[in-house]
Amino acid sequence: MVEKYDRLADGFSEIEYADPSRYAERRATLIVETGPRLRPGETVLDLGCGDAIMARPLAAHGLRYSGLDASERMLEAARACNPGLPFALGRIEEYVPPEPIDAAFCLRTFYQPADRAAFFRHVAGYTRRKFVFDFRPRTHPAGPVVDDLRAAGFRHVELRPFFLPQRRHVPGAAVPLVTALEHGGPVASLVLRRYGRLFCAAWR
Ligand SMILES: C[S@@+](CC[C@H](N)C(=O)[O-])C[C@H]1O[C@@H](n2cnc3c(N)ncnc32)[C@H](O)[C@@H]1O
Repeated sequence: MVEKYDRLADGFSEIEYADPSRYAERRATLIVETGPRLRPGETVLDLGCGDAIMARPLAAHGLRYSGLDASERMLEAARACNPGLPFALGRIEEYVPPEPIDAAFCLRTFYQPADRAAFFRHVAGYTRRKFVFDFRPRTHPAGPVVDDLRAAGFRHVELRPFFLPQRRHVPGAAVPLVTALEHGGPVASLVLRRYGRLFCAAWR
């Protein structure tokens, strides 16, 4: 796995995302707003940060960012884009930050640890306010994911649809339509059967 991401590190976000800034800004909003709202000055830890595309939009919300990744090449890219920010090399299922974190989040990476329930317990051990991650419910059905969160001690869970395409450009005028669809109740549930992700916030 690490070798794969070492190879992908050069230009990772530009290749992975049709519109890297817009995608990261929308995800930052969901990290802040899903579950208990984050406040300026709070700390956030990006688990599997890649090249740290989330650092800038979360700083724009006044949050104090740090990142963790198992790939040294990804961390080199992250540091080059964000001089002065703290990054650590390590595995998300093992790393413990030097101090408790207000919010930990894990984007497109939560499925990497072999023991999901143990990973959730581990994150719960150092997270003060909430843990946020995203997943495709067609690949990881939401019911068992939520069961594992509750078993890890997270009593509250909020799930929110996220439909902004990762790899296809959406014209600016269409973005409000995509956002409206995310709030579409039963329509959003129907769309999720074929498309999109869920953002999940869990807290005690
Ligand atoms: C699909 S990329 C996502 C990067 C970033 N979170 C984003 O959304 O753009 C997965 C990242 O997680 C890292 N990763 C995968 N498994 C990991 C693990 N067990 N511990 C730490 N990092 C891991 C990879 O090196 C890679 O940078």
